Amino acid sequence: MNQSTEPSTAFIPFAKPSLGREEEEAVLRIMRSGWLTTGAETLAFEKEFAAFIGSPHALAVNSATSGLHLALEALGIGPGDTVITSAYTFTSSAAVILHLGADVVFCDTAPDSYNMDPKALEKLLATTRNCRAIITVHIGGLPCDLDAILPLAARYGCAVIEDAAHAFPVHSGTAWAGTRGTIGVYSFYATKTITTGEGGMIVTADAKLAARMSAMRMHGIDREVWNRYTSKSASWRYSVTEAGYKYNMPDILAAIGRVQLGKALRFAEERTNIAKLYDEAFSGLPGLRLPPRLTAISTAGNIGHAWHLYSLRVGMDGNGPDRDQFVEALMQAGVGVSVHFIPLHIMPYYADRYKLKPEDLPNTLNIFNHTLSLPIWQGMTTTQASTVATTVRRVATEGADGQ
Ligand SMILES: Cc1ncc(COP(=O)(O)O)c(C=O)c1O
Repeated sequence: MNQSTEPSTAFIPFAKPSLGREEEEAVLRIMRSGWLTTGAETLAFEKEFAAFIGSPHALAVNSATSGLHLALEALGIGPGDTVITSAYTFTSSAAVILHLGADVVFCDTAPDSYNMDPKALEKLLATTRNCRAIITVHIGGLPCDLDAILPLAARYGCAVIEDAAHAFPVHSGTAWAGTRGTIGVYSFYATKTITTGEGGMIVTADAKLAARMSAMRMHGIDREVWNRYTSKSASWRYSVTEAGYKYNMPDILAAIGRVQLGKALRFAEERTNIAKLYDEAFSGLPGLRLPPRLTAISTAGNIGHAWHLYSLRVGMDGNGPDRDQFVEALMQAGVGVSVHFIPLHIMPYYADRYKLKPEDLPNTLNIFNHTLSLPIWQGMTTTQASTVATTVRRVATEGADGQ
């Protein structure tokens, strides 16, 4: 958290990227180099990311959505298959399943968590035909219960894709979230802890899957040919072995990503400090519940929450404020807030396609009706965070309509 104590009267945005002189210089360096698309810079970013996260293979892509699509494709998911994911997530986690002609089955959230409920998952696995994979999401940056999910997946022969779009950097046990499943996918979208504007990274320990995803992100070409126009030694010959996609990350974005990666641990600390300030301001306030978190973090020094989102719950016990009015009151008071997530099973496309009713996933629906996400971003000043906290306290105690 930035220690500035200047008074904050301006609107406090919900999210803001933290980009400085180093990122600007990195972009200029690439622009002046004459090489804009995927090249040496992207390869360097992949290498550095792989080293940071402790994974043998890291593949840079143009979004996490592309990464999730490539992951399912490499696993051979197709028509007739089913993939289970959370309903309490962004549409990408499910849309990629439909892109491949497979079907999605939505799992409910655990009662005091925003993540997939392993008990509900176990029931679904016992009744779902042809389930080939599980896409589990670390919602808001809180690691999901992989200690329960991974053995269940193994018992039913399912691959696990960790949708780690919100989960960088955060530990899951003693490993980094995103590295424990078959494949993990991170997002570098503009609101994420480290950003390239748009972008993502896939990690896996499986060399065959990595080779497939690497080829498919680049037109289904059988080898790296990115330097065929500039290198004297590069051959112009290549073979297209599949009808692949165009999901590569350009060097300009990779240059930003490398600088951001170097700042990731500091960013995580800043976000944690903001979350602490909020926790202290809100604990014990009637009608509010703090975001769920892991009760025990096994190894000292581990990061237990990436704090991509700080999502409060209001009115859970039937005696608190109405969420929508709460959001409105905060926005009117100059605090940018958002709601995560409108569950997928109530979105028209999925509800119509699978004939789903809102109450089919009661925990998901309940959480959705009561959550709101507060501003949390590195570079936020102490004054800004305190202003958010004071405003939330005021709205919570006076009522959203000021009564
Ligand atoms: C849970 C989740 N998964 C996947 C994505 C897709 O990320 P991207 O925008 O990088 O495609 C998002 C987007 O924010 C997300 O929230």
